[in-house]
Amino acid sequence: MTEPAIAPAPPVTLVIFGATGDLTRRLLVPTILNMTQSGLVNDSLQILGIGLDPGDDEMLRAKLEAFLATSNIKANYSDETWQQLRSRIFYLQGDFTQDAIYTQIVSRLREQTGRNAAYYLAVPPLFFGDIVDKLADNGLLKEDGSFRRLVIEKPFGTDLASAKALNARILNRVPESQVYRVDHFLGKETVQNIMTARFANMMIESIWSNNFIDHVQITAAELVDVGTRGKFYDATGALRDMVPNHLFQLLAMVAMEPPNSFDAEAIRDEKGKVLKALRIYSPEEAEQNSARGAYTAGVSNGNTIPAYTDIADVARDSATETFVALKLYIDTWRWAGVPFYLRTGKAMTARDTEIIVTFRQVPFAQFKGMAPQRLTPNRLIIQVQPDEGLHIEISIKSPGLSVEPMPISLDFNYADFFDIGKLTGYESLLYDLFDGDQTLFQRADSIEAGWAAVQPFLDLWSKSKERPDTYPAGSMGPQSAEALIERDGRKWHQPDVAHRVKAKVS
Ligand code: BG6
Repeated sequence: MTEPAIAPAPPVTLVIFGATGDLTRRLLVPTILNMTQSGLVNDSLQILGIGLDPGDDEMLRAKLEAFLATSNIKANYSDETWQQLRSRIFYLQGDFTQDAIYTQIVSRLREQTGRNAAYYLAVPPLFFGDIVDKLADNGLLKEDGSFRRLVIEKPFGTDLASAKALNARILNRVPESQVYRVDHFLGKETVQNIMTARFANMMIESIWSNNFIDHVQITAAELVDVGTRGKFYDATGALRDMVPNHLFQLLAMVAMEPPNSFDAEAIRDEKGKVLKALRIYSPEEAEQNSARGAYTAGVSNGNTIPAYTDIADVARDSATETFVALKLYIDTWRWAGVPFYLRTGKAMTARDTEIIVTFRQVPFAQFKGMAPQRLTPNRLIIQVQPDEGLHIEISIKSPGLSVEPMPISLDFNYADFFDIGKLTGYESLLYDLFDGDQTLFQRADSIEAGWAAVQPFLDLWSKSKERPDTYPAGSMGPQSAEALIERDGRKWHQPDVAHRVKAKVS
């Protein structure tokens, strides 16, 4: 990694609730290691882990060390960097539903330079409210010359009512300016690049509306199946797990109006407006504009996958979806009449997160009699992951005596220019957290607007007696998802082929 052009983050104690859990060792510590290695944080950063497991500082350090030694986490650090960080990791054993642990945190923070603290709630959502209350009761959220920030991971609520209740409970104790709700998709370079691609390029932004765009597709296909996460997943489903958060963040980036500046509030205002303009469907509309599925046994990426309803901790008659496809509208001047097709699922053909913007067809006047496939509409493809990149499909004249247009793709691949593969994706999130920049974090109103737009689907399926359609593991979803888009005379983008079309112009 190269030296950052920006200054190291201010001194801070990162207080992690749930320090012996998965998130801490898989993401938080590797991220801090990457940041230490590249100078984004220095030795004024401390980690104070809180957990139920008995032990002391050395217990946590040894546990993390053992994990780092055997895992292939995305991190790029030297042993020296780990040794530097190791001595700044501390541990307090305690029950975070009881006051005692908070009294200890108070005295620890008093000893720390700068006394800034960021509390990271890497715990089940059930505890979010209680921890915030205890932090507030013990004066740990009061900012008196030092900052106090609260970081909350998803899931933020399970529906509109619970998200509203959680926001109300938290904001009763701490102002929005101190709350950092994580959506890890916002840490991805390709997602952050959407705003630059749009607002730094006249040739893109000037045609970014219903005047020129036919429709938008957002796909987050996963190869992984539900595996050992049955308990969490069966109570959650693909819609809750991916749509109001990750997919809506992508949608908001694509559809937002240009903010007046790149200040956090200006950006969050515009994203919020888009999410609030998502059409709220009646029960009939929700039914017409959605498809859902659960995978049956199949082969995905060479692995035999059992049916979703055959895995541990999933009810045999489960009605939970592992795939969802939606057709949504954003009721603004810019997007009137432009459908946004979203789909996501587990155990699909490929891992592929992409945004496909399809432009309108040109008038056919000059190309009468030509086979329609020779004159394909322009497309802009934002390849979020893997093979991160951006592709613009245009038509050129195929060399020869007659006028024969053919589609080609202008390709930008991150890997050709940058090394982003060694990052966890949390580096920018944690840096911004320490730096007090909320741009990449979700505001309460956006979270609630997202839930409001999916609530009709949740209601429909909770009342429905029908189980989801099925699709074999290793496919791109149920037939009903194909029908959803084909009814409109369109097709889902096939992730593995179309945008790799290249012309051999010699
Ligand atoms: C998480 C979901 O939020 O995002 C998982 O709970 C999902 O089910 C994951 O697999 C996808 O994230 P990424 O970064 O791997 O695309």
